[in-house]
Parts: sequence; structure tokens; C-alpha cells
Amino acid sequence: MTTIENGSGTRELAGKRALVTGGSRGIGAAIVRQLLDAGAEVLTTARSATSTVAEGATFVEADVRTRAGAETLAAAAQEALGGVDILVHNAGGARPYESTSAIPDEEWQDQLDLNYLASVRLDSLLTPGMRERRSGVIVHVSSAAVPVTPPPFLHYTAAKAALENYSRGLALELAPSGIRVNTVTPGRTATPGGELTREQWARLDPAQGQNGTTVPLGRDGQPDDIAHAVLFLVSDRASWLTGSNLVVDGGEFPRG
Ligand SMILES: NC(=O)c1ccc[n+]([C@@H]2O[C@H](COP(=O)([O-])OP(=O)(O)OC[C@H]3O[C@@H](n4cnc5c(N)ncnc54)[C@H](OP(=O)(O)O)[C@@H]3O)[C@@H](O)[C@H]2O)c1
Repeated sequence: MTTIENGSGTRELAGKRALVTGGSRGIGAAIVRQLLDAGAEVLTTARSATSTVAEGATFVEADVRTRAGAETLAAAAQEALGGVDILVHNAGGARPYESTSAIPDEEWQDQLDLNYLASVRLDSLLTPGMRERRSGVIVHVSSAAVPVTPPPFLHYTAAKAALENYSRGLALELAPSGIRVNTVTPGRTATPGGELTREQWARLDPAQGQNGTTVPLGRDGQPDDIAHAVLFLVSDRASWLTGSNLVVDGGEFPRG
């Protein structure tokens, strides 16, 4: 176990209460593990429990795409943790379509619910407590595909673009209340969801993935690469950072 200690020898996030969505595998599971290692109490969620949820985390089954799911989570966090100091919106993802016109209405709505409105709803339930305590940290997980907007994923990148815009605005609104809000933007990361999506894309477009890696640093990301960035942003080491977007993609998708 890696422990991150502060100057007085206690773990850096000891006493902090964290809620992470989508913590049963991939990037979310790495975030949960790193938060636990840093001493935080952690509650996480997915639509179904798996053996890959880190030992020591509280697991609650919920679907973040619905208002009812958000309410279930907020109530569970209150009951299990007594409140939330660190909120990480990680659940997300998409499957590709052969053309934008082939994306049905329900899929557009589903993408907005999963990759954008899930954060809006849960934030609205948990930020009042943070405002009262005049402290809290929120991280939204976006995607490096946003500025690239590959057509098979426009439903996904449009929802994530909305999330980035919302995250920046929320940061400005909550800064005077002592609450920091930032985005972490992963590039191509080796996770079950990421691998499945890339396989589906390669079936639609066999040219995908045939020319070796396009990542300047020479490899795909690992879930821990993204979790390290999240851990930095929720720690006091990032106490003067809000409204930022930390892109963690091996240099693949430079932003202006
Ligand atoms: N991997 C990449 O290459 C990559 C690149 C850019 C951005 N991202 C972003 O990084 C985040 C994590 O991606 P990942 O690759 O780690 O995904 P993943 O391997 O598919 O894991 C997703 C996690 O979210 C949960 N989840 C999915 N839908 C949910 C729902 N409706 N309600 C509650 N939980 C739900 C999943 O559990 P259940 O299925 O059991 O619900 C699982 O725990 C996502 O926001 C994704 O868009 C990933």
C-alpha cells in the first residue's frame, strides 16, 4: 500500500469523507484505492457490485443516470459517512455509432444523463452541505476526445463538453464558499470500458488502432495515472486550483 503522509506523519486525507461514482472497475476503482491509501473514508457506487470494489470502501448500488439514483447516493453518503468532503464524478462512457444520424434520441438522452446530468444532480444534492461547512472538493471526469469530436462519439463528446463548461462555471460560483471544482480529462486509458469501446470502434472502422500508438509518451494510460491526478486535485496541495482542467493523456491531444 502506498501511503501519502503530510508533514506531521498522518495520512494526507485522514478524516476526509469521499464519494466516487463508478468505483467498481477501471479508473474509478484506482481512484477509490488511492483515496483509501491516503486515509480517506470512501463510499462508491456502480449499477452492480463486483469483487473488484476495493476492500475498505463502502459500496452502494445506484444508477447515477437518474434523479432517484442521485438521491439514493446522497442519502447513503449521509448515513455511512455523515457528509461528503470529496466528490469524484467518474462514472461515464459510451459506445460508438456508425454515423451521427444513427444515434437514437434515447441514446442522446442517456449520454446526457450519464456523462453530464448525473454530475449536475449529485452536485446539487451535496454542495449545500459543503457550503455550510465552507469546504469541499469536486472533480468531474471528462475525456480527451472532447476537442477531437470523433463522429462515432458525438453524443459522448457533446455531453462531456457540457460537463467541462458546467464544471468551470460551478467552480466560479462555489469559490467564495471555499469549495474547489476541477476537471480531470483522461486520454486513452487501459480499462474494461475503454478497451470495449475501442473494440467496438475498430469493428465500425477497421483503420482504428492499426498504426500503433499515437500517444507521444509511447503508451496508453493506466487507471493509476488518472487517479494520481485526481488525488492531487482533491488534496491541499491543490488548494489554489479551481476551475482548471487537468489533461492526462500522454501528450496525445494538446489543447490551446
Ligand atoms: N478509459 C478511457 O480510455 C477513457 C478515456 C477518456 C475518458 N474516460 C472517462 O473516464 C471515466 C471512467 O472510465 P473507465 O474507462 O474507467 O470506465 P469503465 O471501465 O467502463 O468503468 C465505469 C465504471 O462506472 C460504472 N458505471 C457505469 N455506468 C453507471 C451508471 N449509470 N451508474 C453508476 N455507475 C455506473 C461502472 O459500473 P457498472 O457498469 O456496474 O454500473 C464502472 O464501475 C468515464 O467518465 C469515461 O468517460 C475514459
